[in-house]
Amino acid sequence: MKKHIAVVSGDGIGPDIIREALKVLSAVGAKFAHTFTTSEYEAGGIALDHTGIPLPEETLKGCQESDSVLLGAVGGPKWDTLPSHLRPEKALLGLRGGMGLFCNLRPAILYKQLADACPLKKEIVGEGLDLMVVRELTGGIYFGERGRDENSAYDTMAYTVGEIERIVRKAFEIAQKRSGRLCSVDKANILNTSQLWREVVGRVQGDYPNVQVSHLYVDNAAMQLVRNPRQFDVIVTENMFGDILSDEASQITGSIGMLPSASLREDSFGMYEPIHGSAPDIAGKDLANPIATILSVAMMLRYSFGLATEADAIESAVSKVLDKGYRTADIYTEGMKKVGTSEMGSLIAQSL
Ligand code: IPM
Ligand code: MG
Repeated sequence: MKKHIAVVSGDGIGPDIIREALKVLSAVGAKFAHTFTTSEYEAGGIALDHTGIPLPEETLKGCQESDSVLLGAVGGPKWDTLPSHLRPEKALLGLRGGMGLFCNLRPAILYKQLADACPLKKEIVGEGLDLMVVRELTGGIYFGERGRDENSAYDTMAYTVGEIERIVRKAFEIAQKRSGRLCSVDKANILNTSQLWREVVGRVQGDYPNVQVSHLYVDNAAMQLVRNPRQFDVIVTENMFGDILSDEASQITGSIGMLPSASLREDSFGMYEPIHGSAPDIAGKDLANPIATILSVAMMLRYSFGLATEADAIESAVSKVLDKGYRTADIYTEGMKKVGTSEMGSLIAQSL
């Protein structure tokens, strides 16, 4: 197979972790006889510094013309005081919105090797955790009408039936392939958009009779995630609730440095990125955990290229390296072997 990947390293630790992910990608290519070519594009703070805007047209175009996109992270304190249309985060929204990537998959898996890094009690976590947050990514308050003057500001959350239905259907399909349990999270006791959301879930449910559906208000869901996370399998929710709950879910799996994500549209095209941020405090210091980005490459192979065996190979290489006791600083516990970003990437690539 021949595929061309647009690579957007971004800011902070972005280049550190992308370097390792590309090591693993080329090891997979060599092992399974695929040709993966890449082109680098700038977005975020680095693009601001070079071009004056966070998402240059050339970047969006390059990404759109590729077979899929691999992204590191954007943002940093250097650009934090800029007005919102110039902030590096706008690049991320521009890529998601510009390419129509409405379906964000954020698996949260507690690796058994990292059980000690989980902040919850053993009796709560039991045999481990494996849940999937399905987040709507191109609508809601992130993309609604907004404004501000000196004394006031507003953001609007708006959804159409079509926007809700397409993400909800994706979630039903995923739930069907997993445990058959789907929890839809909203704030239907307050928000019009949530009431519409609930109605759509209720209607779509008819097409998936073997999926058992529950509904939770987002405040309750946040509480249940730490009280009893094992009640969840697939969670589907709107953009901002999904942003918040996926960070929470990641923390109960030990480290945000471990979790990948896929942002998809109806066809197989997607953008893949770790769910963590740019961690400017540790950028360039060989300290970042590259595993979330490496696992994002695995998701790319699985979802965009249909290469399930290759994706499995990456995931089991990660597992093997953890089995051998190698840990980056964020997941380090006593008695383990501490390694830097680059060694972790090389170990996983070799383990393939
Ligand atoms: C995420 C991030 C982004 C978001 C930020 C950086 C715009 O937190 O991918 O979860 O809020 O979506
Ligand atoms: Mg977030």
